[in-house]
Amino acid sequence: MKESKNFETQAVRIQSERSSFREHSAPLYLTSSFVFESADQARALFADEEEGNIYTRFSNPNNSEFIEKLCTLEGAEDGFATSSGMAAMFISMASLLRAGDHVLASRSVFGSTHQILNTLFPRFNISHSYADVDRPETWEALIQPNTKMIFVETPSNPALDIIDLEWLGKLVAKHNLILNVDNCFATPYLQNPIQWGAHLVTHSATKFIDGQGRVIGGAVVGSKELIKEVRFFARHTGPSMSPFNAWVLSKSLETLAVRMEKHCANAFELAKRLEGHPAIAYVKYPFLTSHPQYRLAQKQMRLGGALVTFELKAGLTGGQQFLNSLKMLSHTANLGDTRTIATHPASTTHSKLKEEERLAVGITPGLIRVSVGLEHLDDILADIHQAIEKI
Ligand SMILES: Cc1ncc(COP(=O)(O)O)c(C=O)c1O
Repeated sequence: MKESKNFETQAVRIQSERSSFREHSAPLYLTSSFVFESADQARALFADEEEGNIYTRFSNPNNSEFIEKLCTLEGAEDGFATSSGMAAMFISMASLLRAGDHVLASRSVFGSTHQILNTLFPRFNISHSYADVDRPETWEALIQPNTKMIFVETPSNPALDIIDLEWLGKLVAKHNLILNVDNCFATPYLQNPIQWGAHLVTHSATKFIDGQGRVIGGAVVGSKELIKEVRFFARHTGPSMSPFNAWVLSKSLETLAVRMEKHCANAFELAKRLEGHPAIAYVKYPFLTSHPQYRLAQKQMRLGGALVTFELKAGLTGGQQFLNSLKMLSHTANLGDTRTIATHPASTTHSKLKEEERLAVGITPGLIRVSVGLEHLDDILADIHQAIEKI
């Protein structure tokens, strides 16, 4: 079904080759290795003269189906499925960077990505600088002679800031850099960074791609040339996805479009209904006209996403009281689930930062992040309203 240009058809119909059992749904290939038909085939496979499976750390039909589908949906030439989103972030950088290289990253990236840049890479003499999402005019001056890659998340977590991918695509082309975009919040249904000039797109498939809070997984997709390096690194260091998770995630991609439509419809409506609430200082959602980068979001995203944030006037303690008063919304360290999840970054994920560091990445004291699920909107709203009243 590669000939169809339609997202929904590609997501449903791209499938591994049917076996002699004539199965309709793709089978699960739980095997560590694959049998060689002859000594010469074994030699040819190891010599890369023939394409085929050798060992599941390198490739497996379930992983190939998942990655082929994701590549098609992202407009990428090739890809590699990883055991987690962080494995994807790590190998997308570590496989291409060398000692002495420099990475320019947006300041608002996921916490573990910060740890890779701040704590782990300096051990290998790979340095970085952070650029502010709301000050694009400062980025070019931060590029150094040894800068090799720009790494960004858009929308960012949890501030929901939007970076102009077209502008960034032009900037990396001018300076001959690799643009690596963590597309976890938007998913390929809402945004395709490669269309704007990104060379690599990284995913935590744990979030909306699974969408049901079941498995951990990730992926790196991009140009053939770069993925060759990523695959070599992965083959010899071992962060590959389990075939079981690849099977789950390939099935999940079949329903991504319908799920994202509903997630985004619920989120947009929730954002509109919460805006102006007397206990809330502001609501942030990419498709609200009050979002500082509303026009940009409209340009590069199909819909506004499933994440909504709002600032409780009652501040830090108000945020904690709010979470303690929720009856239905889940309080858990995840997002992108059918179940609506609320978190309070200032007292949890970002509590170790100083207040000024939190403010620099848009985390105000009473900020609540809601990953809007697929429950009926009335029930999501009712729970949020009753919890606000208890503050
Ligand atoms: C934007 C973003 N990138 C990367 C990750 C890491 O993914 P994983 O937990 O699958 O390793 C997460 C979430 O955990 C995330 O929200």
